[in-house]
Amino acid sequence: MKNGFVIFLSVATVLLLSWGALVLAPQMQLGGARQVPVLNSTDVYPLARPGTAAQGLQVYRANGCAACHTEQVQQDGVACDVVLLAAGKNPSAVSNLLATLKLTGLDEGSALSASDRIAAAGGKVETRIRATGSDIARGWGLRHSVAEDFLYDYPVALGSLRVGPDLADVGRRLPDPNWQLQHLYAPRSLVKGSVMPPFRYLFETRKIGAVPSPDALNLPAEFAPAVGYEVVPKPEAQQLVAYLMSLHTDVPLYNAPFTPPAPLKP
Ligand code: HEC
Repeated sequence: MKNGFVIFLSVATVLLLSWGALVLAPQMQLGGARQVPVLNSTDVYPLARPGTAAQGLQVYRANGCAACHTEQVQQDGVACDVVLLAAGKNPSAVSNLLATLKLTGLDEGSALSASDRIAAAGGKVETRIRATGSDIARGWGLRHSVAEDFLYDYPVALGSLRVGPDLADVGRRLPDPNWQLQHLYAPRSLVKGSVMPPFRYLFETRKIGAVPSPDALNLPAEFAPAVGYEVVPKPEAQQLVAYLMSLHTDVPLYNAPFTPPAPLKP
């Protein structure tokens, strides 16, 4: 073994480099991640998921949902829309001006100059920022996903294949827990021709007791159990749906800003 030391040194270098790339670098990037302030608010983001939703993440993992669904909204950039709030004292001048200006889908500079010109004519304007990109256009989220979205999750269920839609914002998009439960039991009862597999074992089909369960699914005839029987979600199904309800990508942050379509707080 003439070259023993050289071999040792090369192996040590390879191990050290990969440790640096796979452990140290991610730790330096994300290890210090913590709650961040919400844009235009005194709130912080994120809050830990409620207990049942945290259990639901484990059900999501155990059932391989991440094999077909991602939880990461992508974004190309932002666009600004200038919106007139009040025409002011000289409405005809403002409306003449508006007719000549482009007001939607602007970059920062054009938005600024358009709102300056309208303000100079006496109009009151607001500039709204919105995220752009194909995921946003599909309604999958109001902004791109950020590391903070997953701060309290273990494991993080990012997914990499999109057989089904991205679920990062599904709690906002499909907020009805009963829809979610029925969809898990029988996807085709709600989405014609769906290729999502039914997750029947998360439900119990049982004889109706003295009174029907208030949790029993309200299934269309084609999917309903035999007369005298009812389909009731098991705790796993309830947890999974609580998790789906907790998936939101609709909080504006400093590193992912946008103007919420409706006021955040009523
Ligand atoms: C074999 C791939 C596959 C697996 C596994 C899968 N899904 Fe789906 N999922 C789909 C497809 C395809 C759709 C679109 C059709 C539909 O809505 O049924 C979908 C739709 C959805 C929707 C509706 C989303 C929307 O925006 O319309 C939700 C919610 C959902 N899946 C949750 C789950 C959960 C939770 C699991 C795990 C228990 C799961 N899926 C497992 C393929 C899959």
